[in-house]
Amino acid sequence: MNDLRDKYIGLIAAAGDESTLEDLRVQAVGKKGEISLLMRELGKMSPEERQTAGPALNALKDEINSALSAKKAALEDAALDERLRGEWLDVTLPGRPRRMGTIHPISQVTEEVTAIFADMGFSVAEGPQIDTDWYNFDALNIPGHHPARAEMDTFYMHRAEGDNRPPHVLRTHTSPVQIRSMEKTGAPIRVIAPGRVYRADYDQTHTPMFHQVEGLAIDKDISMANLKWVLEEFVKAYFEVDDVELRFRASHFPFTEPSAEVDIRCSWEGGTLKVGEGDDWLEILGSGMVHPKVLQNAGVDPSEWQGFAFGMGIDRIAMLKYGIPDLRAFFDSDLRWLRHYGFAALDVPTLHAGLS
Ligand code: DAH
Repeated sequence: MNDLRDKYIGLIAAAGDESTLEDLRVQAVGKKGEISLLMRELGKMSPEERQTAGPALNALKDEINSALSAKKAALEDAALDERLRGEWLDVTLPGRPRRMGTIHPISQVTEEVTAIFADMGFSVAEGPQIDTDWYNFDALNIPGHHPARAEMDTFYMHRAEGDNRPPHVLRTHTSPVQIRSMEKTGAPIRVIAPGRVYRADYDQTHTPMFHQVEGLAIDKDISMANLKWVLEEFVKAYFEVDDVELRFRASHFPFTEPSAEVDIRCSWEGGTLKVGEGDDWLEILGSGMVHPKVLQNAGVDPSEWQGFAFGMGIDRIAMLKYGIPDLRAFFDSDLRWLRHYGFAALDVPTLHAGLS
């Protein structure tokens, strides 16, 4: 019995996992285990022998059973410790932010402008970036000989010889979307059209591709006063100031009559731009009452309908609001620049939650 005890206590102590332990249990105290077989021998013993051997065997069986269950509990504890070591997490460590990229200032400003005009009842219209001469010029009352065509440094699309389709251009402004929108829905209409435009020009304040937003509001009795109010509301909301002074300067565009360019009061003191104060004026857009010929070209009866239009440079107002000195940086795709000027991807500009 002592040999058996030493053997099994040793084996149990050395067991490395629960299935080894289970094998040992079967070998020692299972139905046909060594100790169970010894117990069967008790019947063949004399009563005196039995009196000492019986309790001793029972004690041995108990000892082995409790060694087995103690070892089982120890193995389970060790397995749990092992798992906890692997799954351990230090919640006091700083988080690891994932670089998600940022929203480009042009996209941000386009969203801001859209949110402001949407609040005033304007919906968003679109047109193609490659458009015909007709939509980009003629329909807007800019005939072939008009100096405005030359001024715009237009990119003309190449046509193969014998291809007699009408000439196409990269649109030089978003104004052709006025024509397309009125053709589509007629009057009354209230839309803005943000998008890319193209001109062959390149320096600190000009890039061959840039962005404009067109505005158009046609109804029975829309006047310059409505234009002025809408633009004032826009500028206040966009620059996030309570008060702003606008200056309407008489100007000329073939597609509006009368026409005005609009400047905002600002100061450049200390090299930073402040909107709404100071003695400087800064031009931000062109506008006017839509020319009767333009309405007519778009299928809207000018004896019944009238309204205003405006065209604004998105890149320009982005530079102004966010203090970006060189327009060309917008198109360099420099990640460091984007991280500096970019906007969080999930911060969608709205009027109630704040634009920027
Ligand atoms: N299309 C003009 C440009 O690109 C801007 C403009 C001026 C648009 C007056 C308008 C407008 O709608 O009424 O320079």
